[in-house]
Amino acid sequence: MAARELQTQAAAGPVVLARSGLHACLGEPVLGAINFLNEVIDRYPEAISFAPGAPAPSLLETVDVAADLETYIAHLGRVEGLTEAQVRRRLYQYGPSRGIINGLLAEALQRDQGIEVAPGGIVVTVGFQEGMLLTLRALFAGPGDVLAMVQPCFVGAVGAARVLGIDTLPVDEGSEGVDLDQLRAVCARARAEGRRIRAVYVAPDYANPSGTLLPLALRVGLLEVAAQEDFLLLEDATYGFTAPDERALPSLKALDQEGRVIHFGTLAKIAMPGLRVGFVVADQRVAGGTVLADDLTAIKSMTTVNTSPVCQAIVGGMLLSHGVSLQALGDAKGRYYGERLNSLLSALQRHVDTGKDGLPAWNRPRGGFFVRVRVPVVVDAALLEVSARDHGVLWTPMSSFYLDGGGRHELRLSCSYLTDAQIDEGVSRLGRFLRDPRICGKRP
Ligand SMILES: Cc1ncc(COP(=O)(O)O)c(C=O)c1O
Repeated sequence: MAARELQTQAAAGPVVLARSGLHACLGEPVLGAINFLNEVIDRYPEAISFAPGAPAPSLLETVDVAADLETYIAHLGRVEGLTEAQVRRRLYQYGPSRGIINGLLAEALQRDQGIEVAPGGIVVTVGFQEGMLLTLRALFAGPGDVLAMVQPCFVGAVGAARVLGIDTLPVDEGSEGVDLDQLRAVCARARAEGRRIRAVYVAPDYANPSGTLLPLALRVGLLEVAAQEDFLLLEDATYGFTAPDERALPSLKALDQEGRVIHFGTLAKIAMPGLRVGFVVADQRVAGGTVLADDLTAIKSMTTVNTSPVCQAIVGGMLLSHGVSLQALGDAKGRYYGERLNSLLSALQRHVDTGKDGLPAWNRPRGGFFVRVRVPVVVDAALLEVSARDHGVLWTPMSSFYLDGGGRHELRLSCSYLTDAQIDEGVSRLGRFLRDPRICGKRP
């Protein structure tokens, strides 16, 4: 019997679920963005891929999770007087939803950035991604609440909003990191429509994909606008560890006097993504005497229940062997990525010719994993196919990072996953691709 399209149940034969019966978010292009790239990477295994923002494989080879675990177990034995068997039992059981390494994270935030937060104001999450989902779920109470997002914007943040059906509005980065006039205009427009900007997502440190480092004056300005317009700031601090020699700017959370900043950290890049450990600093007071972290904890208890205690313990061990400092944990890696970024920028200089129209052109970020290249043609899936099939090089179309159809003439290159030799060869291929008459011929 032929498969039939049904909303619920087939009387006989295989059930086929109607698309219209599934949540509308599944039709959102952003939810397919990562799978689309993985699928192209799988089809062209010989291609050099500048697509993944994943950590360098060589940095993961040196991780010794067994040793980190032992360090943490010995620490718990010392500070809580537990036997190794008692500690192991604790780690192998379900754990508290809020997390078990909150105290170490609070100590690290104080040491690294002067952020004073009680362990109870932190929730340890399954990466940034879960932290974002929990926070958006808690903060967005109704259809009038809108999330403004500084764009171009990390797809994971946009995707979290889509999954929850939260309305978003873009605010352009502009030349410096966020266009505050546009942000004020977006707030006014929302108000005129009877809605409100509840929160603004921003990644101030070498953002993905723009590489922008938000200057101090704009950090202060953003906090001022947040106070005037009464919204919260969702600060994604993922790439703050890169360019360790230049990183001197305080985080928004460190500057925050009013409790307007919810700060997201992840161990994905400074430790390893396979742990799936991140955290949210959500110490905002909630009427009735609790803090926002209590509410995130309640939601987490009904989603992932708790972040793996074993993985948290490994992170705990890593922190303990780096002086309880996230900064110290990330420093050597930050330097490593700084070198790869320089390799990518100098390879572009060597291999990519700029035409009379000034294109291709690229930015020169001082940190982060990414470089954006502006090209004279529309960058879409078909162009990526040509690049992969005929030139053996992959990248990410920048349009995936825009909420409003922007970025159509840009592509993103990531330096994090490749060696210098691969970067050189990949950019040489990219140069050939950009000189391909089929590309140049399309120049307007
Ligand atoms: C801007 C940004 N935030 C967060 C993350 C990390 O998310 P997670 O901790 O869920 O791996 C990434 C990873 O690519 C990112 O680029």
